[in-house]
Amino acid sequence: MIVEHLTLKNFRNIPFGEFFFSDKINIFGGNNAQGKTNLMEALACALEKSFRTLRASELVPDGSRLSPEMSVDFRVDAYPEKINILSCRIDGSYIKRKINGINYKEAVKLYPQLKVIVFIPEDLYIVKGSPDMRRELIDETADMMNKKHHVVSSNYLRILRQKNTFLVNSEKRGISETDQIQLSVWNEELAKAGVNVTCGRKKYFSTLSNYTSEFYSQLNNNKEKLTLKYHSSVFSEEEYENAQPEEMYEIYSRKLEEKTERELAVCHTLVGVHRDDIEFFIDGRPARDYASQGQIRSAAVALRLAQAKMFRERWGEAPIIILDDVLSELDETRRSFILSHIVESQVFITGCNKNDFAKIAEARRWEAENGVFTQIDR
Ligand SMILES: Nc1ncnc2c1ncn2[C@@H]1O[C@H](COP(=O)(O)OP(=O)(O)O)[C@@H](O)[C@H]1O
Ligand SMILES: [Mg+2]
Repeated sequence: MIVEHLTLKNFRNIPFGEFFFSDKINIFGGNNAQGKTNLMEALACALEKSFRTLRASELVPDGSRLSPEMSVDFRVDAYPEKINILSCRIDGSYIKRKINGINYKEAVKLYPQLKVIVFIPEDLYIVKGSPDMRRELIDETADMMNKKHHVVSSNYLRILRQKNTFLVNSEKRGISETDQIQLSVWNEELAKAGVNVTCGRKKYFSTLSNYTSEFYSQLNNNKEKLTLKYHSSVFSEEEYENAQPEEMYEIYSRKLEEKTERELAVCHTLVGVHRDDIEFFIDGRPARDYASQGQIRSAAVALRLAQAKMFRERWGEAPIIILDDVLSELDETRRSFILSHIVESQVFITGCNKNDFAKIAEARRWEAENGVFTQIDR
């Protein structure tokens, strides 16, 4: 997809902005805290979701009751002559979006090509940071390949929250026989949902893992091999690889049952897909313990490139890519690698350091100052 035009107003520190983008590379320079990331967030938020917050109310300019509004004109390769208009308005904590006047939820089904891959400095901690980031990575990848995965994983989290609330409450009042029954009902639901999440993740994990390894090897002149491994908190390696859904359900239920006593004592669910993790190995050694800063950065670059490639293969179109403040965190080799591998995508790059962009020849450029963007390439 290509974003041709964006207008926005009242988005965080940006009072107003209008942009006619290049369908290749768009660069936003300027000092820190001027609004570059805010602009990227506005674009991502209009198209899909913010990459900084789950609370829409944060996007409202401080101290005001204004409504942030964005309007995006975009094209998809499948119908190149058609310009689509996406409007987005934030009222308090509600985000209302429409595509060509149709409610977003319905309209987006017609536009599976609509996708933003965001690469932010926090990604550089993916290998060593908290497991949530890695679970999010695989869920986000599965969502992008199959929209149903999002429904499945949200359902799991809803049941998990309800069960955990139940565990907390039962501690206060002591557990009765009916509580025991109630708990086994939660566990049954949780096992079903957990198996669905496991299968949804598993379906795309090996492709993500293979593509990431390929990009990593290219980035390191085939000198090192990166491998990814999914760690299930429920299934053994053998079970994860080979068990069929019915068998998985039985194993999952049994594991939950075994933990019941302990869960009642600690008041939360101790086993399940919310505790799974992905481990990275470089030449067979756990990257978390052994990898250098550079190796970890390569892995992060490779992961985002792998996602973009998977998306392209699945939907036949390149996603748009936002590189927010990451180029300055990468050395020259990784920087040019990433730039030469995203040529099919429309790219939005931000950074403070002009030298990072010096080698990018064909690009449209803006400078941000205090929430105001000025185009500087003309
Ligand atoms: N809701 C908001 N209202 C007004 N200003 C905000 C809001 N949220 C963040 N800001 C301001 O935006 C600026 C940061 O913008 P950002 O886009 O992150 O900067 P950068 O150019 O470094 O990427 C900061 O000055 C911050 O205080
Ligand atoms: Mg920034």
